[in-house]
Amino acid sequence: MSSPIGIFDSGVGGLSVFKEIIRIMPGEDIVYLGDTARSPYGNKNKETILQYSLENISFLQRLGVKLVVIACHTSCTNALQELQKIFSLPLFNVLYPSLQKLPQVTKTNHIAILATLSTIASGVYQNRLSQFALYPIACSRFVPLIEEGFFTHPLLEKAADEYLEPLQKTQIDTVLLACTHYPFISKILQKKLPNQVKLVDPAYDVAKEIYTFLRQEGKCSFKATQGNYRFYVTGEPEKFKKIADRIFDFSIGTPQRVSLGKTISQKI
Ligand code: DGL
Repeated sequence: MSSPIGIFDSGVGGLSVFKEIIRIMPGEDIVYLGDTARSPYGNKNKETILQYSLENISFLQRLGVKLVVIACHTSCTNALQELQKIFSLPLFNVLYPSLQKLPQVTKTNHIAILATLSTIASGVYQNRLSQFALYPIACSRFVPLIEEGFFTHPLLEKAADEYLEPLQKTQIDTVLLACTHYPFISKILQKKLPNQVKLVDPAYDVAKEIYTFLRQEGKCSFKATQGNYRFYVTGEPEKFKKIADRIFDFSIGTPQRVSLGKTISQKI
């Protein structure tokens, strides 16, 4: 029997990556952790983001996952290097696939990066993409609204108008959705941008990378039926379920609530 894939995010955002993983690898078992009680990560400092990420990975590791997908740009940009030093478990991230994809998409070499405040403050995208004209924009109001279950809302429209306004007179042809929550509001974002601008979501590339790895390692699940999915949250299970059930074409059941940090070993 093959072990499950572990995925975590601060909340529902990582479900945009989950969706691509099950599209490409429908037979894989998956354990998802949404750290909803401590969301958003985007306004936390580096040390806190590292600590939370560490606890999330440890939790998934104790459940016997074969790899962990850090489905959170905020964790990847603030903590990936440290996490890679700590864990021998394979860690997949949303950062490298994004960095690889952007040069293939842009023709004008003018790229906007939409992300959380902590991702923008990390400077990782700015440093790694210094050959491009970059427009980094911290979109702090999106995640709390999405975590409240809004994929359309006048407040999202208003925030998008404000955040995207500085892009109107630029030559950008590419916008990186550098937060896994943002694909859920891509219609709003696309509507506010000139038609030719492409939104880049690295979820498919992340899933493809995992598929290639599992094949090479001989660790794929060969189940012909759909995998078994388990959901854990640190916050309110029903609130998470309501949003997740709108994202998938199946019901996720009631997620299990867990406490991370000091009580971790008692709760698993
Ligand atoms: N979805 C996450 C990201 O990709 C985290 C957002 C947040 O918690 O602020 O950055």
